[in-house]
Amino acid sequence: LIAAGATSVGIVASKDSRIDRDSGSPPMEPFHGPHQGGIASDQQAYALFLACDLVASGKKHLRELLDLWSAVAAEITAGNPPPEPAGLAPGFSADTDVGAGLDPARLTVTFGLGPGVFGDGSGLDSQRPKHLRPIPEFFSDTLNPAWCDGDVLVQICADDAQVVSHAFRALRARMPGLARMRWTQYGFLSRPAAGGTPRNLFGHKDGTVNPRQGTSDFDRSVWVESVDEPAWFHGGSYLVFRKIRMKTADWDQLPLAEQDRIIGRRRTDGAPLGGVDEFDAVDLQARSPDGELVIPANAHIRLVKGFSMLRRSYNYDYGTLIADAGGAPDPVPAPSHFHAPGTPAHTHGGHSRLDTGLLFAAYMNDPPAQFIAAQRALATDPLNGLIQHTGSAIFAIPPGCARGEPVAKALTE
Ligand code: HEM
Repeated sequence: LIAAGATSVGIVASKDSRIDRDSGSPPMEPFHGPHQGGIASDQQAYALFLACDLVASGKKHLRELLDLWSAVAAEITAGNPPPEPAGLAPGFSADTDVGAGLDPARLTVTFGLGPGVFGDGSGLDSQRPKHLRPIPEFFSDTLNPAWCDGDVLVQICADDAQVVSHAFRALRARMPGLARMRWTQYGFLSRPAAGGTPRNLFGHKDGTVNPRQGTSDFDRSVWVESVDEPAWFHGGSYLVFRKIRMKTADWDQLPLAEQDRIIGRRRTDGAPLGGVDEFDAVDLQARSPDGELVIPANAHIRLVKGFSMLRRSYNYDYGTLIADAGGAPDPVPAPSHFHAPGTPAHTHGGHSRLDTGLLFAAYMNDPPAQFIAAQRALATDPLNGLIQHTGSAIFAIPPGCARGEPVAKALTE
């Protein structure tokens, strides 16, 4: 049986009885459709972001990779084993059985193309998405080049960490000769038992004000439809990715009321300061009896008010792994810091070894007006003293593909 759409690269499916479960009924997310999965899909519990560089530029090469990867993604998101590459010697298999017997756990595999794909000599320059330019440097950046940029992105999300790991192995196995790995980042996100907004690692609910799928705000903020954009990109989006380290040890030393003023919302229940419930309207004009703004002038939510984008971020916690492996997660050593009253006497040094924070992943259709403008507006954010942006990348996320076709077919044919 020849896997649909994969004949040009000689992939053969590994099974005679393929399961056709592209209907999207739980726990599956459809791979095919007008938009790629993993954007409007409800956020899964685990994510892996993989960025790689192409070993050669040009349409043909990119097409080969996307043919292989789309065929794999179409199968594994439906709970099937990945198709075997053609020409494997007898007794060898590209599958690992790591995902055998597991349900697909709403697996989504989302592909993105970085600015380098459209560079000189690629033959694709005229097809470059209008805003696909490297993110400018911001004054507060402390970027580690090891965690920046990339030609092709894969965002893998599922409700089962082993399903994510299996998907990564299946995709990585198709990379030799086509692409080399640049960086990977693993994240997690747990929903409260009773449902509702998940919390970030500072303990605040994160995602309260986010465009909701199926609303015109979502469509206006996320999907690319502009006539200024190349036709192949319509129905796509941009992903801005930032690895943001959060200095949890410092944050934990702050009194709760100060944490709430920094964000502009209560950590306990997510309500805006001055409000009662999480989804209450935010009153930016309200003043206390002594004339102070209830939501401080530089509160995070005030500074970014009105910048609509789909924040689909994940928490990460690498503990001291990276520091102990010899890399410094903290390019700028932690300054002397405040201690909560009653903190036992101690020697310092532990703070800068922790690498934990937010894999900020935001989908949008106009990065200069959305992420870049918002990040500039955050220049006076008191959060800046408690976080560090250490990784950065931007990708054009092609629209979805039809059954039997690869992602970005219209760009690469
Ligand atoms: C580690 C860094 C960050 C933390 C801890 C953080 C935390 C939060 C929290 C707790 C909220 C309120 C709840 C919500 O509406 O989701 C929020 C809102 C928001 N954040 Fe952040 N944020 C971070 C970085 C960023 C960055 C880099 C941007 C964009 C440049 C951004 C843009 C937004 C926007 C647009 C909102 C909604 C504001 C509104 O309209 O009310 N955040 N953030």
